[in-house]
Amino acid sequence: MSLVCLTDFQAHAREQLSKSTRDFIEGGADDSITRDDNIAAFKRIRLRPRYLRDVSEVDTRTTIQGEEISAPICIAPTGFHCLVWPDGEMSTARAAQAAGICYITSTFASCSLEDIVIAAPEGLRWFQLYVHPDLQLNKQLIQRVESLGFKALVITLDTPVCGNRRHDIRNQLRRNLTLTDLQSPKKGNAIPYFQMTPISTSLCWNDLSWFQSITRLPIILKGILTKEDAELAVKHNVQGIIVSNHGGRQLDEVLASIDALTEVVAAVKGKIEVYLDGGVRTGNDVLKALALGAKCIFLGRPILWGLACKQGEHGVKEVLNILTNEFHTSMALTGCRSVAEINRNLVQFSRL
Ligand code: FNR
Repeated sequence: MSLVCLTDFQAHAREQLSKSTRDFIEGGADDSITRDDNIAAFKRIRLRPRYLRDVSEVDTRTTIQGEEISAPICIAPTGFHCLVWPDGEMSTARAAQAAGICYITSTFASCSLEDIVIAAPEGLRWFQLYVHPDLQLNKQLIQRVESLGFKALVITLDTPVCGNRRHDIRNQLRRNLTLTDLQSPKKGNAIPYFQMTPISTSLCWNDLSWFQSITRLPIILKGILTKEDAELAVKHNVQGIIVSNHGGRQLDEVLASIDALTEVVAAVKGKIEVYLDGGVRTGNDVLKALALGAKCIFLGRPILWGLACKQGEHGVKEVLNILTNEFHTSMALTGCRSVAEINRNLVQFSRL
């Protein structure tokens, strides 16, 4: 079967993976209303193309936090890539490096950070932190990340407790994974990396200054969905926001990411960069997110589908390539020659 779009990868990945891994990747929290709405909400937005604008040359490049990327399409943090492909995060990092985009490595990566850096030493990488209750452990980890050349610290906010993922509970995911499924390229490494560290339940806005005091990395807050929190993020001098609902895996029945984007962008008034993840599956989706003010988008599940479908790195490269080509076409068909020309007038919320 030839895989020509991201949903082809989704269908094919379903056939490759064990039930518990498939459920772990695809699952949303509770009734999965937000997971599904992340996708449906993009389809409620219509495009307003402009013509006669000489699109013989279309440039998809842009920057995030001052670093150039080949397209505004990057990789969101997701844990345990070794579940899907033995080389796990090393494959993901190689594909991101080859594509010239940013890869946010998860706290729950199943390869060591050192191995990931060796696999793709030139790649642009950010590190996603689940804040540990013991602040000193966070400090050690952040210092390690900084010395390994990660360029930003992404703090995930929407997990003070874990969302209620029914499939994982039914599949007794943690027990089954630690015993059987997880493979690591280095034998014996898998179990220790898989031990989930606890996540702080008491993190507050005032704690951010402590992180700022121990690192020079830009701090990006992941999981903001409201103007109130966006304003607080600006007030606390962070460098960016990822509008995200964790792919619908945390609090169900929150707004779709693309629906929350407008109020967050309005609230920050251009003072910091705003990014988006959740439900991005086509080049048109990328264009819509940028038109509504996102600087770039991040992909979660599609990267795991790529890893599962085509021998790791090659599959991730193909997913990134397909989406970038689609985005290029979307730009040309709406009359945008550069990312800077993508603007609010290109989209209209449909009344469907
Ligand atoms: C995630 N996500 C996530 N987020 C995070 O901050 N740290 C993590 O370790 C993980 N792990 C994780 C595992 C899996 C299997 C999924 C599907 C998601 C959330 C992720 O970063 C992102 O917010 C969503 O996946 C984006 O939505 P899409 O692209 O999957 O629709």
